[in-house]
Formats: sequence, structure tokens, C-alpha cells
Amino acid sequence: MSEARKKVTLPYLFEKVEQGEPITWLTCYDFPTANLQEQAGIEMILVGDSLGMTMLGYDSTLPVKMDDMIRHASAVRRGAPNVFLVGDMPYMSYQPSNELAVLNAGRFMAEAGCDAIKLEGGAAMAPRIKAITDAGIPAIGHLGLTPQSVAALGGFKVQGKSADLAKIIADDARILEEAGAFAILLELVPDRLCKLITERAENCIIMGLGSGPHAHGQLLIYHDMFGLYPKFKPKMAKVFGNAGEVILNGLKGYCEEVKGKVFPARENWFGMPDEEFESLRKLLK
Ligand code: KIV
Repeated sequence: MSEARKKVTLPYLFEKVEQGEPITWLTCYDFPTANLQEQAGIEMILVGDSLGMTMLGYDSTLPVKMDDMIRHASAVRRGAPNVFLVGDMPYMSYQPSNELAVLNAGRFMAEAGCDAIKLEGGAAMAPRIKAITDAGIPAIGHLGLTPQSVAALGGFKVQGKSADLAKIIADDARILEEAGAFAILLELVPDRLCKLITERAENCIIMGLGSGPHAHGQLLIYHDMFGLYPKFKPKMAKVFGNAGEVILNGLKGYCEEVKGKVFPARENWFGMPDEEFESLRKLLK
């Protein structure tokens, strides 16, 4: 199990920004992986609604429900008690009203033990960020490529490439910060735009995903890092180890050993003393 670690808090995260030390953030959806991330010293975990794709096999994040998120976030919290845990608000859990947004953000805190929530969207979502932070719940904004709006954005592509579109993202970042977001994730925007927004942020931690090296910290999707998502590998992801290949080889080995009667071997089963077995035979006669 995990080694003792100090709990990552909001002041700790701002301290890292102050010290110029990039913050590490990964997605995670289950207990054993959370435990490994806790042991590795990962500072933040996002229980993303990307679990709809990585864990449940949907083609988008849209079918994911609050109950799915709570179940996975609770498991992650049990595996990683000391990371700063962020619950990702799924599609239509916050868009309809401030009230719904606050109630669902509250579920992440009360039922799953999260430290903060994240939601997607720019100026239009500023009232949600304000309502959630007014309720005492730390909130993170998400700009650039926002997967819940992928149809409106025309697919999974870089956002803010022109000056006009980049200005909208930069303005949105300012508006979300003013609404109370303590952090903003910039997904798939040009590195120079990410740098500019990071430099302009006053009291807000800017995290990047596929947006270059200048943010205060980096987020990666765990399944992309370890070759565990079979459908595609995005350019923004680096493969740090091919766990998918290791597991596949293990599965093939299992098939071979069972078919070849190599597994189970003597050390994998339990015997019975001769006298007990003899008694059993008699009992069965
Ligand atoms: O759900 C998720 O994992 C996310 C990332 C794509 C940023 O929101």
C-alpha cells in the first residue's frame, strides 16, 4: 500500500507556482491505479469524464452520468488519500442552472471526498463557477478543446490558432479567474497562447494539456501515457511505458499455459492430508 505522504492542499499548489515548480496532474479512474499514482508522488488527480471513453468504451464523454463519476471518484480517493482530487462535472450536470451545478459539485465533495471540481466552458459558464465557489467549493475552469462541446468545435483539434479566436480564450480565462476559478486547464491551444495566459494570470493556476511547456503544471490522460486506449493515440500524449503491451503478453501467456497444462503449477494450489482424503472417500462410498 501507499507510503505516508503529506496531503496536497490548495496552499501547497500555490506554493509550487510561487517556486516555479511545475505541478503534476494525471487522470485516474480506479483504486489500484490511484494507489500507484499516490506512491509515485503525483500531486493532482482528475477523475475525468473521459472515463466514458477510456473505461466504459463510449465514443464520447457525453453519456457519462453523475453516479458514474461519484463511483469512480470514490474509488480513486480510497486509493490516493493524499493527492489533490478533482472531480470532473459530466455533461448536463452543471450547464442547465447554477442550482444544479452547486448540488452536483457538492456531491463530489460530500460523497467522493474530492478537493475541487472542474467544468468546461468560457464566459457563459462564469456564473456556474461563481455559484460553486460562493458555496465554498474550489473550482477549476477548462478552456480550449472542451470535449463536451466537440461537435460544436468541429472535432478534436487545436483551438485558438487565429488571433481573434485566441483573444476569446484569453478573455475567457480572465473572466473565469474573476468569477473565482482558482485554476484553469488549457487543453490543446498553441504554446504561445498558453504562455501569454499563464503570464497574465494573477491568482490562478494555469494547467496545460497539449498546450506546451509554459503552464504552471501539466495534465496527461493516464491511458494515453501507457498505451491503454486502443482507439487512437493523440499527438499531445507521450507514451511513458507500454503497459498495454505488457498486459497483452501476460494474457497470451496465460492462455498458452492453461492450454499447455503448465498453469496452475504445484505452488498455485492447496493440498489435503492423506488421512482426511481417505476419510472423505469412505464418507462418499
Ligand atoms: O475528462 C477528462 O479527462 C478531461 C481531460 C480531457 C482534460 O476533461
